[in-house]
Amino acid sequence: MAGYVPGYQPPDIASWIKLNTNENPYPPSPKVVEAVLAELGSDGASLRTYPSASSQSLREIAGELYGFDPSWVIMANGSDEVLNNLIRAFASEGEEIGYVHPSYSYYATLAEIQGAKVRTFTLSDDLWIERFPERYEGKLFFLTTPNSPLGFAYSPGYIERLAQRCSGMLVVDEAYADFSDTTALELVRKYDNVVVTRTLSKSYALAGMRLGLAIARPEVIAALDKIRDHYNLDRLAQAACGAALLDREYFREACANVVATREWFAGELAKIGYSVIPSSGNFVFASPPDGNGRRVYDGLYERKILVRHFSDPLLAHGLRISIGTREEMETTLSALQDIG
Ligand SMILES: Cc1ncc(COP(=O)(O)O)c(C=O)c1O
Repeated sequence: MAGYVPGYQPPDIASWIKLNTNENPYPPSPKVVEAVLAELGSDGASLRTYPSASSQSLREIAGELYGFDPSWVIMANGSDEVLNNLIRAFASEGEEIGYVHPSYSYYATLAEIQGAKVRTFTLSDDLWIERFPERYEGKLFFLTTPNSPLGFAYSPGYIERLAQRCSGMLVVDEAYADFSDTTALELVRKYDNVVVTRTLSKSYALAGMRLGLAIARPEVIAALDKIRDHYNLDRLAQAACGAALLDREYFREACANVVATREWFAGELAKIGYSVIPSSGNFVFASPPDGNGRRVYDGLYERKILVRHFSDPLLAHGLRISIGTREEMETTLSALQDIG
């Protein structure tokens, strides 16, 4: 099988404007740094012993934040871990999982590892899922909302109709939900087949720590607990996670800054003739007037600006550009004007 190819992480990262993997341009909360240093101590002695196996205190913090009992929460070593474990829990060899194309193609790789079958659903021009069956019998259906790479979000009403039509689990991957104003969290309470996954990689600026979580019925959480690595979150990650989730003011301000820059940048792109899909994430999908995404990607690359170009025929006309600081986006805009 072919493995998943993650976005490029250049070794000389500081010499690039890096807008290719939807990281946060701001550092994490200073309270995260304090908490990690405190956990480490001056001699690192805390690292001798294993961390909490259940990350129970984090389940409590996240439960309170999202309005669920801690028994409805599981913490993960990046949301990728919990996506993997969902497939391991629910889809055995030969069983089917479904997802939307284009969205996060890692679901397909994870399914392939399990020997599960993969069915993809395409999008209509108005971005609805095409030919979704009245009753979808696959074991899992993954819905990325806001969608990456396209940026649009589904309404809770639309997601609810999908939940009703799935006989297996509906996994709502809300990696980018903190930059939008919708969430499917209420549906977890209402439907026993809905799981919501979140990550701290984007909105909390902690991609380098590998932290994610899922909210689902306690029976589902119990199944996921059986499968995961017992010590899936290391001590430093647990310290960072608690501090990040609790610093609401810093979080709100960092997200608001990204959203404000996104709106400004999308408007400027439209002024220079790009077509831009309205985005609810920390990135935009935009196409140059000649529909040649690769040409513009190369032009930006020469100027040490890294964005994401997908060679897939459905996406090759455009680019996914993560939202950096206002200054980085001003430089990117001038480069795009220069490239023409
Ligand atoms: C839609 C989506 N889901 C999940 C992930 C994985 O996030 P994490 O860093 O928490 O593993 C990503 C990362 O880019 C993503 O785009």
